Amino acid sequence: MDGFKVAIVGATSLAGQEIIRVLEQRNFPVSSLHLYSSGRGAGRHLYYNHQPIQVGETGTNSFSNIDIAFFVATDEVSRHFAPRAVDSGALAVDTSTVFRMEPMVPLIIPEINPDDMKNHQGIVACPGCTTIEMVLPLHPLHKVNPIKRIVVATYQSASGLGSEAMDELTLQTKQVMAAEGTMPRLFPHQIGFNILPQVGVFMDSGYTREELSLGEETQKVLHDPDITVSATCVRVPVYIGHCASINVEFSHPVDSDEAEDVLSEAPGVRVIDDPTVNLYPQPWTATGMDEVLVGRIRQDFTHPSGLAMWVAVDNIRKGASLNSVQIAEEITRRGWLKSRG
Ligand SMILES: NC(=O)c1ccc[n+]([C@@H]2O[C@H](COP(=O)([O-])OP(=O)(O)OC[C@H]3O[C@@H](n4cnc5c(N)ncnc54)[C@H](OP(=O)(O)O)[C@@H]3O)[C@@H](O)[C@H]2O)c1
Repeated sequence: MDGFKVAIVGATSLAGQEIIRVLEQRNFPVSSLHLYSSGRGAGRHLYYNHQPIQVGETGTNSFSNIDIAFFVATDEVSRHFAPRAVDSGALAVDTSTVFRMEPMVPLIIPEINPDDMKNHQGIVACPGCTTIEMVLPLHPLHKVNPIKRIVVATYQSASGLGSEAMDELTLQTKQVMAAEGTMPRLFPHQIGFNILPQVGVFMDSGYTREELSLGEETQKVLHDPDITVSATCVRVPVYIGHCASINVEFSHPVDSDEAEDVLSEAPGVRVIDDPTVNLYPQPWTATGMDEVLVGRIRQDFTHPSGLAMWVAVDNIRKGASLNSVQIAEEITRRGWLKSRG
């Protein structure tokens, strides 16, 4: 086969444009690329390998003859169109929240659980970007010393809510600098020069949906329903790059040097940790990187089996686009792409 017929639904989104870059950079075998948006973005031209491709409006016929369809639009678009793509014989790699916890849908971080895709039914889901940044470094540690409990606080950038949210941060930053009033639109309060301890909607438990999903997705990816996760997800006025302060309780006492050795060897993880020269992961340095950056690795001196660390990830790249392309790479390499029809 010369390559795959690939569609990107939501090609004009932050994650969609990053998928185009990742396909180019990793030389993914594409025989033809088909870009779709809503009616709003249709007609635009985006560039793939220096060639302009006109964006079309997503429709039921968008998937005939498509091998792989990446969904990077909205939950509603995935809910409506991903099953139609599968009916047309395509593999749907989905970044929305819609299918992640469906029992028949594999939830995949390719460095961790690629085998879960073997019996896929056409849809493969990407975990949320906060799940990816937390679970990718925790998985190799969990293999040598099972995790019992995680307490995590995330520091999530504006781009996690899409390109219009980045525009809102820019506008409010200018308004505050000009001593003008601000009007929140996508965020529940002003995000410029502010921090919001709310990502997503609140549930009856007092946690947000995002916080509960972080625990549920962690259990599904690691195949361990006994791991408990207490999360506080926080929005910060940063454009790109999510961070998290993670405190983990393992089954047995843990040594921070040994943990660092394990993390240094882990695929998809880069240790950046030298307190003597103030070196640690930051959202700015994570932007554009493929790996989850890990630092501030230290023993929790309040608990012999406790370890603390700080992570940063490019939420658009590894948090959605790169992870999606890696899923397609693994599934095609293993011959698990179902034949069309
Ligand atoms: N940003 C992140 O950090 C991140 C991380 C993990 C997962 N994700 C997931 O990635 C997806 C995209 O998120 P984003 O933040 O990159 O979005 P975004 O920049 O806010 O863009 C939303 C996109 O959805 C497109 N869209 C709306 N209706 C559509 C339709 N009928 N057909 C095709 N496209 C349609 C819009 O196209 P128009 O140009 O026509 O308006 C726009 O490009 C979401 O499912 C999100 O959950 C994002």
